[in-house]
Amino acid sequence: PRRIDLAVIPGDGIGPEVTAEAVKVLRAVTGDDVDLALTEYSLGAEHWLATGETLPDGTLERLRTHDAILFGAVGAAPGDTRIPSGLIEREFLLKLRFSLDHFVNLRHSRLYPGVPSPLADPGTIDFVVVREGTEGPYTGNGGTLRGGTPQEVATEVSLNTAHGVERVVRDAFARASVRRGKLTLVHKHNVLVYAGHLWKRTVEAVAAEFPEVAHDYLHVDAAMIFLVTDPARFDVIVTDNLFGDIVTDLAAAVSGGIGLAASANLNMDRTAPSMFEPVHGSAPDIAGRQIADPTAAILSAALLLRHLGLNAHAARVEAAVEADIAARTGARSTATVGDAIAAAVS
Ligand code: NAD
Ligand code: IPM
Ligand code: MN
Repeated sequence: PRRIDLAVIPGDGIGPEVTAEAVKVLRAVTGDDVDLALTEYSLGAEHWLATGETLPDGTLERLRTHDAILFGAVGAAPGDTRIPSGLIEREFLLKLRFSLDHFVNLRHSRLYPGVPSPLADPGTIDFVVVREGTEGPYTGNGGTLRGGTPQEVATEVSLNTAHGVERVVRDAFARASVRRGKLTLVHKHNVLVYAGHLWKRTVEAVAAEFPEVAHDYLHVDAAMIFLVTDPARFDVIVTDNLFGDIVTDLAAAVSGGIGLAASANLNMDRTAPSMFEPVHGSAPDIAGRQIADPTAAILSAALLLRHLGLNAHAARVEAAVEADIAARTGARSTATVGDAIAAAVS
């Protein structure tokens, strides 16, 4: 059988709980077809508290050698004073996305049959957000002057390069061309004029290569109106790193909740492994109680299978998840959901 060599990073909070179910489903669906090698890495806020390590160079180099990375979530509870806010997010998660050049952060939103939406009349929700993954205000390109004084000045500069914008915009057009042929650029070029115009000009230039794709533009604030009042209008949304973060939590909320939202951090040039993770975080408020929904992690594992060319296996996981969601009645434990989906794909 084909060998697949995965790194598994369970992380903090509910990360280990949901990742265990994703691994369970991966093992069940691949069975004897795949020689699945898993290497678990201890990383995250708890690991930092125990060791002082965020993401050592040696670990990063070992992570590079895998075919793909399955990741849970990291992060401390917002009120936890033992760990500086942003340390793990920046020095582990963003460092990983940047170092492995995960320039496409792909997040699908689909309202599955039988799933309640908080929207009274949601219509058909089936769109993808192509979120830029390596630039924007996430690059740590900021600083502070006169910290702690009444004259303090803090900046966070948004970095946007022609190369970085063009490659993610081209990816989004390519996805739209094999979907419903509609791309929406979400930005704020009425205020963010330099970056906004780079994004707008790039969309217009790349559009010429995709005559079959219609494109439009929404300012991010208005886009949030339509995400709630008319989500069916969206097919592919392309946007920057920070807008994409915010848009995709709302997108998750309107399409069945954060417990169902999967994501892929893709290095589309395949110069380093891609990483698959639920959109949600470590959810300290529910951690350790076996009440987290592992579906987002399981659907992220399906995206991993598809990225590695195991399309039939990915489709089996997605079909099993869809059936599981449609049959839901009451609350089930994290492991019970994983067991049911694993049994369905075996
Ligand atoms: P969160 O996504 O962890 O939680 C938001 C809310 O959604 C919480 O009420 C939580 O209980 C609920 N929730 C999340 N996942 C769920 C699931 N699978 N099933 C049921 N309910 C679920 O966001 P937060 O509270 O803002 O962040 C907590 C920590 O996670 C912070 O340290 C943050 O930095 C970090 N974080 C990490 C990632 C990541 O690792 N990719 C993503 C987001 C947040
Ligand atoms: C996400 C998270 C991360 C992000 C944080 C934890 C750095 O919110 O994956 O959506 O903002 O990208
Ligand atoms: Mn987020």
